[in-house]
Amino acid sequence: MEKKFKRTTVTSALPYANGPVHIGHMAGVYVPADIYVRYLRLKKEDVIFIGGSDEHGVPITIRAKKEGVTPQDIVDRFHNLIKDSFEKFGISFDIYSRTTSKTHHDLASQIFRTIYDKNGFIEQTSEQYYDEEAHQFLADRYITGECPHCHSEGAYGDQCEKCGTSLSPTDLINPKSTISGSKPVMKETKHWYLPLDQHEAWLRKWILEDHKEWRPNVYGQCKSWLDMGLQPRAVSRDLDWGIPVPVEGADGKVLYVWFDAPIGYISNTKELLPDSWETWWKDEDTRLVHFIGKDNIVFHCIVFPAMLKAEGSYILPDNVPGNEFLNLEGDKISTSRNWAVWLHEYLEDFPGKQDVLRYVLTANAPESKDNDFTWKDFQARNNNELVAVYGNFVNRALVLTHKYFEGKVPQRGELTDYDQETLKEFADVKLEVEKLLDIFKFRDAQKEAMNLARIGNKYLADTEPWKLAKTDMARVATILNISMQLVANLSIAFEPFLPFSSKKLREMLNMETFDWATLGSTDLLAAGHPLNKAELLFEKLEDDVIDAQIQRLADIKKANEEANYKAKPIRENIAFDDFTKLDIRVGTVLECQKVPKADKLLQFKIDDGLETRTIVSGIAMYYKPEDLVGKQVCFIANLAPRKLKGIVSEGMILSAENNDGTLAVITPEKLVKPGSEVK
Ligand code: MF3
Ligand code: ZN
Repeated sequence: MEKKFKRTTVTSALPYANGPVHIGHMAGVYVPADIYVRYLRLKKEDVIFIGGSDEHGVPITIRAKKEGVTPQDIVDRFHNLIKDSFEKFGISFDIYSRTTSKTHHDLASQIFRTIYDKNGFIEQTSEQYYDEEAHQFLADRYITGECPHCHSEGAYGDQCEKCGTSLSPTDLINPKSTISGSKPVMKETKHWYLPLDQHEAWLRKWILEDHKEWRPNVYGQCKSWLDMGLQPRAVSRDLDWGIPVPVEGADGKVLYVWFDAPIGYISNTKELLPDSWETWWKDEDTRLVHFIGKDNIVFHCIVFPAMLKAEGSYILPDNVPGNEFLNLEGDKISTSRNWAVWLHEYLEDFPGKQDVLRYVLTANAPESKDNDFTWKDFQARNNNELVAVYGNFVNRALVLTHKYFEGKVPQRGELTDYDQETLKEFADVKLEVEKLLDIFKFRDAQKEAMNLARIGNKYLADTEPWKLAKTDMARVATILNISMQLVANLSIAFEPFLPFSSKKLREMLNMETFDWATLGSTDLLAAGHPLNKAELLFEKLEDDVIDAQIQRLADIKKANEEANYKAKPIRENIAFDDFTKLDIRVGTVLECQKVPKADKLLQFKIDDGLETRTIVSGIAMYYKPEDLVGKQVCFIANLAPRKLKGIVSEGMILSAENNDGTLAVITPEKLVKPGSEVK
């Protein structure tokens, strides 16, 4: 039987404060979490929504080192940027704090200490790479070397970014410390491990038997981890950025970032509610829900619960709605390749259009598989759904009511069968949206909410009140009353999804109560209720705006290709004699013209110092014939003649091929006599 809870603690993954947040974060975690929380609040349930920045870990120290600033500088910068983006997108956290706070350092240390005192950890010594010049152990990311698979240089100790293979530091050929450049040596180091193997039995039962309702992707990942057998996991690191391990003899060691970060949910709750935070984390009547992306599943479903269980006084999550990934224009979103739509940039490029992005990200939410964000789809959904369906219906209903009834909701008269059906349909929509939100199916839920607007549009199109206005005002009144009830319902139904538009709509409707319980009601607006001025909820997005975004991505792609450019490998050696067989000369171009019916070919007449020769060359895409006349070019003079498009070509003009395939003709650096040898 389903358990009845008294309150809900909702968390969303704490983003690393080593870069801004992008649409992938938003689609996977923050928009769905926010929809859910807004829904519960509208239902007047007791709920808190906890967020914050994850400010420890190696990537932050690497970025700091690269920029020559402190890790604290980095996290200060990005914490503030991220917090600001979330606020502007209406992600309605009750608190957004950070893991560098004192509250968090104290609580994380305390939880470690409690588990330690209960003998919940094992201590193990292992050998790890150590930099003897810098006097420190090296995190995987601080070691680079040759990839054992694709043999490219610069692979990291945890992964080769060229071929994508996961590595461990000892796999690297010729490892090097990125701190000093020296060759690291193996050295013994002691760490604390959470013995997950000892937790396996209860985890198996708790997840695989008691939580069959978890999303298939989440459940499946847990099952495959459990089936492989769990191993002890180190919860400390040799690093100078993080929370010191709070036991004797742990100098230079900090808590592993994945140990402290999830505790951040609790610390931030404690900061929000210093007196009652424990109710939200320890009371059996509290339901805990973690919103995360798929790369975080194992930490939230296995490691963190094991930590909480080892501590002993906490509740475990009731559900962990984990999402798959959102791609961008067919490619994986990547911070290092700048392949992303950053929220702070979107806010600049599309001011006031937060709801449009929220809508599109939910419509494409990667709930059961990876999904793709494209700018064309963004434009189409805005124009064909938000503008043409939702905005259009609302606008027509309001404008007509203003026109015929001076902006006051008219009185409903006798109802036709069609009126009754329409009213019933939107009562059904409420049940459907609820059912879907309760099981975290946000994209289907939003679709259902949109259905209300479709019902409204169809109703107006079918009843055509503007035609009846001359003959039957009583009927017009009924139609517009029903339409306005629908509009009022829409403002409630969309509040979790599109909070900015709902607020705007509520102002137009001059509505006071805003309560999920009243959704589906056919009497949200009393007859005579005065409406405010109608304004457009959404506006059409033109091609030029969208094309600019597509161009921006194309430029990034090009820049990345440039950055990754590597010359082709050098060919096999040849003997000096082979080289001297080639007779390369300089010639002066006397004439040049396009070869008919051949896009790529130019036909040259060249003065080679002895006579005039004809050469055909495939550079027509890169030069206009008239630009080459009078220029000096280099050509192979003793190549056996060949026929090209019926023309005998007596040699070959030399060009350099750029990495994008374009060609540049080779010319001597100063004028020489035609026929000069190139040697
Ligand atoms: N910073 C992690 C990431 O972006 C998520 C941390 S979630 C928490 O993948 F539970 F550890 F807080
Ligand atoms: Zn590789």
